[in-house]
Amino acid sequence: MPPLVDLRDLRIRFGATEAVHSISLAIDEGEVLGLVGESGSGKSATALAIPGLLPPTARVKGCILWRTAEGAQIDLLHHPPDALRRLRGREIAMVFQEPMTALNPVMSIGHQVAECAQAHAPSFTGRDAKRRALQALEQVAIPDAARRYADYPHQFSGGQRQRILIAMALINQPRLVIADEPTTALDVTVQAQILALLAKLQRAHGLAMLFISHDLAVVGQIASRVVVLRGGNIVETGPVRTVLTRPQHPYTRSLLAAVPTLRTDRSQPLATLHPA
Ligand SMILES: Nc1ncnc2c1ncn2[C@@H]1O[C@H](COP(=O)(O)OP(=O)(O)O)[C@@H](O)[C@H]1O
Ligand SMILES: [Mg+2]
Repeated sequence: MPPLVDLRDLRIRFGATEAVHSISLAIDEGEVLGLVGESGSGKSATALAIPGLLPPTARVKGCILWRTAEGAQIDLLHHPPDALRRLRGREIAMVFQEPMTALNPVMSIGHQVAECAQAHAPSFTGRDAKRRALQALEQVAIPDAARRYADYPHQFSGGQRQRILIAMALINQPRLVIADEPTTALDVTVQAQILALLAKLQRAHGLAMLFISHDLAVVGQIASRVVVLRGGNIVETGPVRTVLTRPQHPYTRSLLAAVPTLRTDRSQPLATLHPA
């Protein structure tokens, strides 16, 4: 069976600069693939290309092969825009870094989650959608979800807002979740809680996930395989354990060395990345 999504020779250009050079990677059904690299290495551009969310100024070449529920392979790069729009949110869901900007500040969170459910199930009555939304909020452990249904985004903490976005991403039981630095804006304790929640939901639903972070240690906690990007090229790929314990490329080693641990000698400056 072909992979769920298969990027072949993907190239992305913004004006005169090529941000992603020619990368190929595939994600199987139920698999978590980690995509790691320093800021500007092309992680978000690669991720946004899959559901067709790059700005119109981007030039994308190659193939993005998607296996449909019926088992056919289609190239999302040449998929009609309205069909792609239907795929987004229903089969491919995204979780971004900034939960505040991704939520509508003037709409109650219950209403926003219910709207997500209804967008792809127009036969839902308002009551059905509300019931689904409550279930989804309970699934991501929003305390007292029923009482907080009518509250607004600013009344929740950053970690709770990220939980709400995860509820919105998962409510339509997508086949692929793209999580782009979903924990980067959160403090370390909350980051660990969100990571544990994502891992739990991923296992419970057998979700395929593209998990993006600049932090190889974070990726190591959720992904089974990892792709290391540098300056728009893949420099290393392999099972996450192998890449963490025996990194082959000096850039991967520097990504690991740049992560402070409890054993880091804090009297020394942190290792810096090799310039691209
Ligand atoms: N909308 C855009 N317009 C112009 N350049 C962009 C745009 N988005 C990304 N880039 C450039 O593409 C490169 C990769 O960016 P990005 O994929 O956002 O990196 P990452 O997510 O790894 O930090 C960077 O050099 C960035 O400046
Ligand atoms: Mg990014």
